[in-house]
Amino acid sequence: MKHLIDPMDLTVEEIDRLLALADDIIADGRKYQEVCRYKKLATLFFEPSTRTRLSFEAAMLELGGSILGFSSADSSSSSKGESVSDTVRVVSGYADIIAMRHPKEGAPLAASRNIEIPIINAGDGGHNHPTQTLTDLLTIHREKGRLGNLTVGMCGDLKFGRTVHSLIKALSRYEGIEFIMISPKELTLPEYIVKDVFDKKNIAYREVRTMEEVMPELDILYMTRVQRERFFNEADYIRLKDSFILDEKKLVTAKEDLCIMHPLPRVNEISVKVDDDPRACYFRQARYGKYIRMALIMTLLGVSADEYR
Ligand code: NCD
Repeated sequence: MKHLIDPMDLTVEEIDRLLALADDIIADGRKYQEVCRYKKLATLFFEPSTRTRLSFEAAMLELGGSILGFSSADSSSSSKGESVSDTVRVVSGYADIIAMRHPKEGAPLAASRNIEIPIINAGDGGHNHPTQTLTDLLTIHREKGRLGNLTVGMCGDLKFGRTVHSLIKALSRYEGIEFIMISPKELTLPEYIVKDVFDKKNIAYREVRTMEEVMPELDILYMTRVQRERFFNEADYIRLKDSFILDEKKLVTAKEDLCIMHPLPRVNEISVKVDDDPRACYFRQARYGKYIRMALIMTLLGVSADEYR
């Protein structure tokens, strides 16, 4: 593994190793506080972010490394017309590893060609978000103790939501996952995900229009925000933005051990009253994002705690 662009760049065994390393970091972070001494992470964010960028930066700092980068395209030379490949090539002379987010699908893949240092895709348009997927897998594994034999409901903007696309790909490799897609008909999964993942692997999935009708079956409810920035017109966004709102009433029929996830940011999709419900996992999920990114940075840089004992 050199770069991480698509969640399928990782084998199931590599994912297992990353999750085990993240668990160990959570159990005893002190062991790891020097492993990236003298290493630098560059965060190149051409699109806004809070969790992803800051959790990458916190991850590198907790490993004893340093960080540099920019948090919007306007504050980089891309505003002068520099190509992403040139920016990345230049930065690869200043840093040991790059995390990059870009509004264009495929930009991190293009940038990773001919680059000697590892590049991590921190989100490319409506396409992939592999480190959110690792965060989600760590959350599911810690909350449910397994990654297979689960009924997973994905709710909201399944058309533009890259976290959903990446998580579906990753989960499609585990046994016994039942996928239920909950969205208005305008925001259903893109055809390419249905064809490349569900059809190719012969995975049955259900498509429904309300969360109430499937709530009692779910082990995981993965809520998502309607992705305003990817809509072509504002009127459609306004019409669809409040399609699904999870509140306490809708949870009455849910399992006692349902795990409610959300990559965040939340806009309206989950009532704040749900936050105190023990089934609300989304803030824990955000915290796990830092630990799995620590594990990923270590793995891509080829460092381990043993060298520092
Ligand atoms: C997600 C993203 O950027 O795709 N956020 C995140 O990384 N935690 C989800 C979103 O923006 O809705």
